[in-house]
Amino acid sequence: MNALELDTVLLSPDRSGLDILDQTLLPGEVKVLHLQRLEDIWEAIRVLRVRGAPAIGVCAGYALALAAAQIETENKEEFFRRLGERRDYLASARPTAVNLFWALDRVMAKALSLCDRPLPEIREALFAEAHAIRREDIAISRSIGEIGFSLLRPGCGILTHCNAGTLATAKYGTATAPMYIAREKGWTDLRVYCDETRPLLQGARLTSLEMLSAGLDTTLLCDNAASSLMKSGKVDIIFVGCDRVARNGDAANKIGTSGVAILAKHYGIPFYVCAPSSTIDMSIASGADIPIEKRGAEEVTEMWYKTRMAPEGVGVYNPAFDVTDAELITGIITEKGLCKAPYEEAFRSLGIGK
Ligand code: MRU
Repeated sequence: MNALELDTVLLSPDRSGLDILDQTLLPGEVKVLHLQRLEDIWEAIRVLRVRGAPAIGVCAGYALALAAAQIETENKEEFFRRLGERRDYLASARPTAVNLFWALDRVMAKALSLCDRPLPEIREALFAEAHAIRREDIAISRSIGEIGFSLLRPGCGILTHCNAGTLATAKYGTATAPMYIAREKGWTDLRVYCDETRPLLQGARLTSLEMLSAGLDTTLLCDNAASSLMKSGKVDIIFVGCDRVARNGDAANKIGTSGVAILAKHYGIPFYVCAPSSTIDMSIASGADIPIEKRGAEEVTEMWYKTRMAPEGVGVYNPAFDVTDAELITGIITEKGLCKAPYEEAFRSLGIGK
């Protein structure tokens, strides 16, 4: 089974649960989990079986629609109370990717907009809303890809960090969409460089798998080799994804992204953030307001080693994300257009945040 021919997350055909490709096992094992209980879906988001901001949003949308179908009551007041509790529970799975809250709130708003309709109709409409989030995500990634593609030149070298690929979305990815489009257009000479992305290795395990499978010349590097690669002149452009963008353009993405941006500035390499408009959080002024997820020490000291590799008792600093200052970002590519500083003005002129 080819993992990349599978969907990251889908509502199962009988609507009994969600079918989630378990990304923690890739690339070694391809396994689709059929999850019916909300607790199991919460855990899948929490431990990154499904991951990447847009895919988390798609998953959350389906999860809340599924929860609505599972609430056994004909009493509307009770239905909305229990739906709200489930919304809050799912929202507690991870703190940084705003798409999680965005999708939950969108499905919740749909339910509330139909509050005078019969419950079966509301339940049905929530499945339709979740499907729409997924469909739109594919179109959004495609549009980001077209804009990103226009920035590429034949034979250029592209560096990316973490996985903002098809596995992190419903299809195409955001930061990888330009490369998929280049392949579709018959370009064969792009060079893609994947930062391994310590500690969870999304670049090594996922992005390099995606790019190789797309037939691209793909090279993996340790995160700490990025400066040397940039200095060698092999990187012409950088695309990264993001989990939340503040209205001033500060962008939170996988830990290590801000270091890549600082290096890019030093070496004069354009650095682009690829951001569906649902990832832009106009309610927060700057990156200082973005909650950064802290994860367990074992991800650093044990997870990828046969035996623990660091001494017992050592403190571990393991934030899952960092914030790249807007001034380091050459442009933010949304599905509505390419934004340049000053970002708030650029977002508003594209109708983002209205
Ligand atoms: O912790 P993860 O693997 O969910 O982090 C993913 C990233 O940081 C991605 O770059 C981001 O979500 C954008 S995905 C299109």
